[in-house]
Amino acid sequence: MYRTDTCGALRIQDKGKQTTLAGWVQTIRKFGAITFIDLRDRYGITQLLFGEDLTKQLEQQPLGREFVLQAMGTVQERSSKNPALATGDIEVNVVSYTILNKSATPPFTIQDDTDGGDDLRLKYRYLDLRRNAVKKNLDLRYAVNRAARNYLHNHGFMDIETPFLIKSTPEGARDFVVPSRMNEGQFYALPQSPQTFKQLLMVSGYDRYYQIVKCFRDEDLRADRQPEFTQIDCEMSFVEQEDILEMFEGLIKYIFKEVKGIDYTDNVGRMSWEDAMWQYGNDKPDIRFDMKISNLKFPSYAFPFKKPAISGELPQGFKVFDEAETVVAIAIPGCSEYSRKQTDELTDWVKRPQIGMKGLAFIKYSADGTVKSSFDKFYTEAQFKNILDATGALPGDIVLILAGTEERTRKAISELRLEMGKRLGLRKDDEFKLLWVLDFPLFEYSEEDNRWVARHHPFTSPRPADIDTMINNSPEIKNAANYLAHPYASIKANAYDMVLNGNEIGGGSIRIFQRSLQEKMFAALGMGIDEALHKFGFLLGAFEYGAPPHGGIAFGFDRLCALLGGSESIRDFIAFPKNNSGRDVMLDAPSTIDEKQLDELSLILKDR
Ligand code: AMO
Repeated sequence: MYRTDTCGALRIQDKGKQTTLAGWVQTIRKFGAITFIDLRDRYGITQLLFGEDLTKQLEQQPLGREFVLQAMGTVQERSSKNPALATGDIEVNVVSYTILNKSATPPFTIQDDTDGGDDLRLKYRYLDLRRNAVKKNLDLRYAVNRAARNYLHNHGFMDIETPFLIKSTPEGARDFVVPSRMNEGQFYALPQSPQTFKQLLMVSGYDRYYQIVKCFRDEDLRADRQPEFTQIDCEMSFVEQEDILEMFEGLIKYIFKEVKGIDYTDNVGRMSWEDAMWQYGNDKPDIRFDMKISNLKFPSYAFPFKKPAISGELPQGFKVFDEAETVVAIAIPGCSEYSRKQTDELTDWVKRPQIGMKGLAFIKYSADGTVKSSFDKFYTEAQFKNILDATGALPGDIVLILAGTEERTRKAISELRLEMGKRLGLRKDDEFKLLWVLDFPLFEYSEEDNRWVARHHPFTSPRPADIDTMINNSPEIKNAANYLAHPYASIKANAYDMVLNGNEIGGGSIRIFQRSLQEKMFAALGMGIDEALHKFGFLLGAFEYGAPPHGGIAFGFDRLCALLGGSESIRDFIAFPKNNSGRDVMLDAPSTIDEKQLDELSLILKDR
């Protein structure tokens, strides 16, 4: 037997116990004639005491960091206790030990605050995973996995695996493709999600399906995206949107409770996509803090039914605003006394290429009621007061204003709001705010292809009230410049996203389940019937055989774990992640393959 206890198990009650521990040497501290060694395993750290004789033995056969050691001895009370450690009241007085394996000096310290940079740690990920900081993330991931399975199992969902080698039907992200040796010149694709399979399972009568499943997307990476990631993928039959929202709000609340001990008793708020864009400038608002956008000026095509926040019109006279399509503002509480240096720094921040604004206008509304701005000479005092009223600013606030084209300016104010929220400490990692975003547009216009594309995916149904609009109108876009006037632009999807602290953690929809409507959808997306049959004939065929009404959702499992763990980087919650260029630096993949493999696959590489 290699061990009787783990390095995290022993307590003061075990005083006098004979024990055998096995683990990795974390630190070696020599104190005159005796030596203390911290021994680490998955469960914790225990201090070993090597007396004079054993210390002499160590001198003959030195130990190093990360050596694998087995130590036998007696549990005793420590003279100087370490309250930071669960085992900190005791130590093991070692009587004999065995070096089970040696270790080369690790390239970075295996400690919470390691000296290893990102790439080095990814290259030696098996060492990084020994660090407590990473281990606790994987513990959390497993806890989320268990909680999700429990909840779904208890609600009658069945875990059914679906294939990884499927057909390439790119819509949205690019597919990863896999050449087939047995079918020369042909390729499989790795699934971007099990979407069509879960729908087929509904046709087959498995009315509650789930899978915690890998998905593969060849898209540009960010902190919250990996080329292979995991979804909690779910589908249900005989449901409407309301049934899905209720069931999966329940899932997330259950996970909160099981994993974090949080009783999330509030109802999950709901917001239309349009309101999210209008008030927060993006479709995944962080509602942990307020600071909503005030829309001082905007093009009517973007929000045909909305009115400007300002009474009357934004006054003429300031060229930057006069010439802008959109002028939006946010009042930042308590910042009216920002210095010139601070406003200059913020101006530089909005001018960064990622934000792309030409400048920043601001109004300082001091606690004593005085008003100073970056564009004083263009407006009267009354006009400034009018703007301040429109933004809801209170004395003591600074109002930040951006002006430019609609899309860019809205995105920029949304980023600025998040940045200011962060700077003011309003985006707390340990506060969790869920939100459903509903009523997304079904279609988006693709300028590149001059056609409609599905905003979610082509299996999403229109809202019941909009089905007729879709059936009775042709998708043809006669006037690209005015595509928003097309009836399709007003069609809303029967779709929902779940947002946690400003991150999209899940999304889904009620699906189309009639062949005729699905064909209409493919046609709307510019897919002729031949192409539709080639790509999705199996689904259209299945819809001929009694497809039930159905809908579902998929949660980004990695994202959910990262957010519950207080991070926005999903990499830390994946055992073996890829780096920002999609590489596995430990395996050095992707890599070239040899001629023989290429030959077997009938592939010839193009000269670059
Ligand atoms: P969607 O594409 O919205 O929906 O994906 C669902 C959730 O998966 C997460 N996610 C990602 N996480 C990490 N890296 C990525 N590259 C990545 N892409 C997406 C997000 C997202 O909310 N089949 C549909 C679901 C459905 O309609 O039921 C789908 O895949 O958190």
